[in-house]
Amino acid sequence: MNMTSSERIVYVDGQYCPESQGKVSIFDRGYLFADAIYEVTCIIGGKLVDFDGHMVRLVRSLKELNMQMPMSTDELLAIHRKLVADNNVDEGLIYMQISRGNADRDFNFPSKETRPVVVMFTQARPVLESPLAKRGLKVISLPDIRWGRRDIKTVQLLYPSMAKNAANDAGADDAWLVQDGLVTEASSANAYIVTADDKIVTRSLSSDILHGITRAAVLRFAAEAGYVLEERSFTIAEALEAKEAFITSATSFVTSVIDIDGNVIGDGKIGPVSRRLREIYLEKAVAPASDTARIERKSRPRAATSAWFLHCPPPGPRECSQGQGRRGISTPVGPAAFQGHFSRKRWIFPDSVFGRPSVKMIERGYL
Ligand SMILES: Cc1ncc(COP(=O)(O)O)c(C=O)c1O
Repeated sequence: MNMTSSERIVYVDGQYCPESQGKVSIFDRGYLFADAIYEVTCIIGGKLVDFDGHMVRLVRSLKELNMQMPMSTDELLAIHRKLVADNNVDEGLIYMQISRGNADRDFNFPSKETRPVVVMFTQARPVLESPLAKRGLKVISLPDIRWGRRDIKTVQLLYPSMAKNAANDAGADDAWLVQDGLVTEASSANAYIVTADDKIVTRSLSSDILHGITRAAVLRFAAEAGYVLEERSFTIAEALEAKEAFITSATSFVTSVIDIDGNVIGDGKIGPVSRRLREIYLEKAVAPASDTARIERKSRPRAATSAWFLHCPPPGPRECSQGQGRRGISTPVGPAAFQGHFSRKRWIFPDSVFGRPSVKMIERGYL
């Protein structure tokens, strides 16, 4: 195997190989139709942050597109771990893409027998010490012209990429996207404001936005810390009047927004709420990051409303970035649609979070 020492080991369709030898077919439907979904999991101290959350969303994205789960979540976890270890990644991210597979170009989906193609690679980079997080972001507002199923994490990222470039061309760092006068989200993050009366406001979950894994954790931690949360839409005008603005994503955690369309937000400095939420997130989700937590299949789901269980292995829920609940006590884990509770050592989420046919998914053996 020829490889230079600087090459990463990547995973392509069942094989580990040096990155220069990782190739996908020109018939890959991800390449031809953006018929593929992805997840990005943060790596801190060589550990995966909130792997379970990413797996739950992955399964949901696949279900929404009627795509097959290519292997069990345990097998996906094993590949993640191997790539992190083989590439000696201490800090950065791991990207995973699953396409519907290789087939002659046709708008109709190929037969069910078509094998999904899984690709994974790591990107080592500092995520904890980010200059932008220290300074705060400048954003511009742009119309949100993406498709209507932004809750599915597909690889069709051309518009977010164009938006980011437009922001950079305008001397800003990112774009906040606006639909019908209301902010949906940032180009690759969820968007928030802190109102004059100290409420944290972010758009509620729907097909208009990606259901951020970091969003879920941050809202839960914020509620636990006593912040008042409001899941509703807001305008750019309201954001300009806000005390603070910020974004969340897997690799930016909580990052302050200090300028929107050339207007300073608050006093133009990183505000106390976003600063505190970043600290709490790093303390509660990142510091105890454990890639040992795994999604369990429950043999007999009791009801459609409790089909998914995030299991935290011993020594207890503290180790699992999803769970801060105490044993035997049900703990609300988030407002509105993302609410679940911790019971019998498991996080239990309602169907509204991960989609109704989840029981069917379990019965089909996707987990
Ligand atoms: C459009 C969009 N919204 C929100 C997010 C944040 O999601 P997460 O917190 O799961 O990284 C992302 C992340 O890629 C995104 O692309």
